[in-house]
Order: sequence, then C-alpha cells, then structure tokens
Amino acid sequence: MKEKNCEELQREVERLKSLLDISLKFGSTLDLQEILNLIMEIAKKTLDAEASSIFQIDEEKRELFFVVATGEKGKEAKTIRIPWGKGIAGWVAEHGKPLLVPDVSKDPRFFQDVDKKTGFKTKSILAVPLIRKGKVIGVAEVINKKGGGEFTVEDTILFEAIAEQAAVAMENAKLYSQLENLFLSSIRAIVNAIEEKDEYTRGHTGRVTEYSLLIGKRLGLSNDEIKTLELSALLHDVGKIGIPDSILRKPGRLTDEEYAVIKSHPLRGVKILEPIENIKHILPGIKHHHERYDGKGYPDGLKGKKIPFYARIIAVADAFDAMTSDRPYRKGLPIEIARKEIEENRGTQFDPECADAFLRELDENPERIEEIIKRGRE
Ligand SMILES: [Fe+2]
Repeated sequence: MKEKNCEELQREVERLKSLLDISLKFGSTLDLQEILNLIMEIAKKTLDAEASSIFQIDEEKRELFFVVATGEKGKEAKTIRIPWGKGIAGWVAEHGKPLLVPDVSKDPRFFQDVDKKTGFKTKSILAVPLIRKGKVIGVAEVINKKGGGEFTVEDTILFEAIAEQAAVAMENAKLYSQLENLFLSSIRAIVNAIEEKDEYTRGHTGRVTEYSLLIGKRLGLSNDEIKTLELSALLHDVGKIGIPDSILRKPGRLTDEEYAVIKSHPLRGVKILEPIENIKHILPGIKHHHERYDGKGYPDGLKGKKIPFYARIIAVADAFDAMTSDRPYRKGLPIEIARKEIEENRGTQFDPECADAFLRELDENPERIEEIIKRGRE
C-alpha cells in the first residue's frame, strides 16, 4: 500500500473531524431542520462541493422534494418537486445505490428542470441514498467539486457515512413526533372524558388552549414554547377533577368555604401531575393561571412578571372563555363586551403584553375567534 504523505493524512484527519463534528452537534439541538442543514453544510465543506441537498420522498404524490438545499441557489431550488424516477436523485431513490456522475451533460438520467428554474449550472453530482431499516427514505447530493476536480470513490465512502447520520436524524425525528402525537392525543382524550360529565364546561379546555395558542403565536413563541403552552393550557384545570360536583356545578352564589375549595384546583392540578417526570416544565403555568397581574390573584398572589409566562397567557384566554361561553345561569357575553373587559383590565388583572396580543388577534382575526365561540354554543 502506498504510504500517505503528510498532506493526505492532514486531509483525512480533517474529514474524520467533520464526522465527529456532526455527532457532537447532534447532541446540542433537537430541531431536525437545523440538524440536516448542519450536516449538509459540513458535507459541502468536507467534500469541496459548491452545493449540497437532501431530498425526501413523498410516497403519496410519488415525488421527491428538497428538505435541504445549500449553495447560492438553494432557496430557489427548495420550491421545486421532482417526479418519481426522474433525475439522478430519482434513480438513487429507486435503486438504493450511490451514483457518481462526473459530467451530467453526458448522462441522460440528469433532470434539467432544477437548473433551468434556478439558473444554477450543475456539472457533476455525487448522490447517495438515505436508508433506514432497509428502506430508502431520501437522497443526499453534493454538486460540483470545487476547482473543476471530480468526486472520488473516497468521497463516496465518506458521503455515505455522513448520509447515514442524516438518515438517523430523520428517523429519530419521525419516531419522536409519533410519540409526541400519541402523548398529546391521550391527554386530549383524558381531558375530554373529564369535561364530558358537565355540559356547561364541555369544550372549555379546548377553547382556552386555542386562544392561548393564538396569543402565543402573536407573541412569537418558538415551536418548543408553543408545545409547552399547548400542554399547559390543555391541563390547566385538571385539578377540578378533585372538586365535588355540588360545588363545581352550583348555579347560585358560592359560600366562602365553597369558593376556597374551588380555589384549590390549581394546586390540586400540580399534585396530580407532579409525579410525571417529563412534564415538570408545564407545572408553573398550571399552578399560577389564576394569579392577577396586580398581585390580587391566587394561589400565591404573585405580581407582574413574577407570574410564570405561560400562566399569564392562559389567564387571558381563560377569562375570555369564561365570559363568552354559556353558563347554567346566564348566556355568554357578546364578544365586544368581553373585548372591552380585557382592554380595561390590562395591567390590573392581565399582563398588558398578553392582553394586547389577544386584542390584536380579536381585531385582526375576528372570524377565527367567532368560530371557536360558536362551536362551544352548538
Ligand atoms: Fe382554572
């Protein structure tokens, strides 16, 4: 075997470092798109390519679509879908084998539409399949070796190793989201079962969750924050399960003792959920959803921004639903009156930021809110 010179060894070390880089970055983020972008940036750099991309397979439409497209025309490329079996990527998806095309102009399989639409000039392509459990789930490509060189067999081996990391990330994300969906739908089913016994609070949780999410999105929460908010809102009143129906459904005025029992529901909720290890982050939103911005709420009389953020959002959503939904002893208030109530109590009962976000939603997207209220009255 030919001994490697210093320069070659250096290059190999660099390449191994890039693989290590990918696995290190894996641990630092859970966002699939971010991981895939990162992997393909590293692939582009390590393999000296002008651009790199990942295609996923849309089995229903029998098309390939870009999930990552780096390089200067990446943004334009991402809007294009490739018909099944077309192009180099299509061939790789169909055959489950890597393909090295040093000159695309001489290969009839090359699909010219992407270049035509983006203005990019593809010269050479190295494409490898993304395989999990024996099934092709996508295709990764690096395009145009820089400096006019050609992709090599060594490049293919390294790219296959990189692609495997991308495939693992995609598979993990899919499993994770399936698990998350199962979890959320189980929670919804439990909450529905609890609400089912009382026709007047039926749907309350669902509506409060929808209003909370509208506020959260207005406030620019991240995907992860939206998920926490959703779960907190879904479970905010779960503690009512421990309150006797005779109090919960009492039509007339409550005595002081009865009111004290009602007021225990946020803490009861925390007690019920506390033993569940991976939802500790939603407990503050549940415990404090009846605090008031001026400190006159319960259970702790927290004031202002000391009230956990999710609780301040849920408080606005909860109050709006309480006002606009029908109760045994009264019809729901018209939207305009409820709107005014929230406006007048911003800064006293409600966090002004959260109240304003909801008021903006009410003004700019009234049909959406009307539809949520109407569903509750049917
Ligand atoms: Fe509540």
